[in-house]
Amino acid sequence: MSLVAVGACYVDTILTTPHYPGEDEKLRASSISRRRGGNCPNSLEVLQQLTAHGRSMTGLSLDLVAVLPAKSSIASQQIQSAFEPRVQLSHCIYREKFEEPASSYIFKSQSTDSRTIVNYNELPEMTIEEFKRIADELGPKATWFHFEGRIPDVTLACIHYLRQRFPLVRVSVEAEKPARPGLQELAMEADVVFYSKSWTQGQGYLSAKECLEKQSSIVRKASLLFCTWGQDGAVALDMETGNLIHSPAYLIADSKVVDTIGAGDTFIAGMLYGLNCQQESWDLSQKLSFANRVAGMKVTQEGFSGLDGALELNP
Ligand code: FRU
Repeated sequence: MSLVAVGACYVDTILTTPHYPGEDEKLRASSISRRRGGNCPNSLEVLQQLTAHGRSMTGLSLDLVAVLPAKSSIASQQIQSAFEPRVQLSHCIYREKFEEPASSYIFKSQSTDSRTIVNYNELPEMTIEEFKRIADELGPKATWFHFEGRIPDVTLACIHYLRQRFPLVRVSVEAEKPARPGLQELAMEADVVFYSKSWTQGQGYLSAKECLEKQSSIVRKASLLFCTWGQDGAVALDMETGNLIHSPAYLIADSKVVDTIGAGDTFIAGMLYGLNCQQESWDLSQKLSFANRVAGMKVTQEGFSGLDGALELNP
């Protein structure tokens, strides 16, 4: 059993600033940090902890499919040593002519807790031929593919290929970026869809509940839909029963929000863990509150370490 996450890998440079800078302003940051980012790698970083945790250790193996710079580049070496052996990188695509990874420059504003991301990526994107080769190499042991919703035309072709070649595979898709065309079409092909607040608002929906109710008549193939809404928690819709569940955000007494970068990725990791590793033992509302809990713990700390502590508490 293996979960394969397909998406971009970034190196994030994070500047903590007292407020979001105005245009042409000179502003002093209070700290700088650099870490590996990207939605799928962030989710895998959390999933590797959850799946290796003590008594809930599972047989689920984890694979990342991402475009990286040359194998010998500093960035690729660092990414590899941070992930292996728990997350396999052997199916990553190395662009040997490039040394620089995809990069994000992030302003983390202390006055609003917002994170404004500017990214740059010169690595040529994965092609459908590359994906087909990788999917064939992985074979039927890859039971779940999670796609970050990007390069929608290629991703759509990837999902079609999986459906035709490995009909039993489960596919989840994230619809995050509001202005990116083609995410609706991806959602229409997935078994499980994760909608972000920003995508939802970009579509004109006013709440997570409205998004899932309206999307349920559009995405007919899906069995589960999720929508996250920051401090207001998340909503799940079971498409078979029509059951709509809301779970409030997980708040830790006396803790402040310090880092929301990757909170959505952490929610996805918590839910993918529930769906793959606690399929029978947790019901949907337990899975949803667990995903909220891991995300709630994440925002009160820098980075992603120690989040398997969420498993110490009952779902
Ligand atoms: C957070 C994140 C960052 C990355 C950016 C890419 O969700 O994955 O780690 O730089 O988004 O869009």
